[in-house]
Amino acid sequence: MLEKIKCAADYVRSQVAEMPKVAIILGTGLGELVNHINIQKEIQYNEIPSMPVSTVEGHSGKLIFGNLGGRYVMAMQGRFHYYEGYDMKQVTFPVRVMKALGVETLFVSNAAGGMNKDFKVGDIMIITDHINLFPENPLRGKNYEELGTRFPAMTEAYSHRLIKIADDIAAEKDIRVMHGVYVGTPGPTFETPAEYEYFRIIGGDAVGMSTVPEVIVANHAGMEVFGVSVITDLGGKDITEVPTHEEVQKAAVQAQPFMTEIMKELVARI
Ligand code: HPA
Repeated sequence: MLEKIKCAADYVRSQVAEMPKVAIILGTGLGELVNHINIQKEIQYNEIPSMPVSTVEGHSGKLIFGNLGGRYVMAMQGRFHYYEGYDMKQVTFPVRVMKALGVETLFVSNAAGGMNKDFKVGDIMIITDHINLFPENPLRGKNYEELGTRFPAMTEAYSHRLIKIADDIAAEKDIRVMHGVYVGTPGPTFETPAEYEYFRIIGGDAVGMSTVPEVIVANHAGMEVFGVSVITDLGGKDITEVPTHEEVQKAAVQAQPFMTEIMKELVARI
């Protein structure tokens, strides 16, 4: 694994002159952020040794390097989901490569179904914590001390410092933001009403099929993390609307300008 990470990082270094300290995983709801990046270089995933290639509709696969709001960043356009069949090491491989390149701060976004009764479709939820319900932890197996400690703490998986800055930005710009706990599930099924209810009872506010693996690995690697969800549908025992992929995409597009605004400003202020 160490050799694969090194090869991938060496390849990226051979293509890009300067390495950023900030990386952004452009999940659902943040795709448009790429239009605000003054792009200097793009690398297709299939050029990078050992990098998986993404399959989901609406996600292309490339690393983008450029300037966002005055800061030099790397953006990952197209991420790897466990439900696509990748194993946890593949899902989190790009985060390992980012770390090897010198990235210190990771931003992630996703679409999620809301269980919190105060949430509305289109809301933005700053992730304050997560519950890992994936069947496997990405750190399972041999631990490489070079990458991080065997038993990493997850006490502050989402940086309180960055949450505070994001809250300030949202208040200044009059953008409604909620806070909540993200429940990470393998998917690809949306939840049954009983499952949404269960996730709410165990302390979840929103549920989705990504983010948790990458955030675990980023924490293992000592990165500071900020995550945000766009609430694209609501679930629970009294809710009869059926979530569809199209609806999820539509709600994400609506929230996108606000997500973009917060992220752009946050990247500038960290
Ligand atoms: N459940 C799981 N993943 C999701 C949902 C959901 O309701 N909405 C968007 N991604």
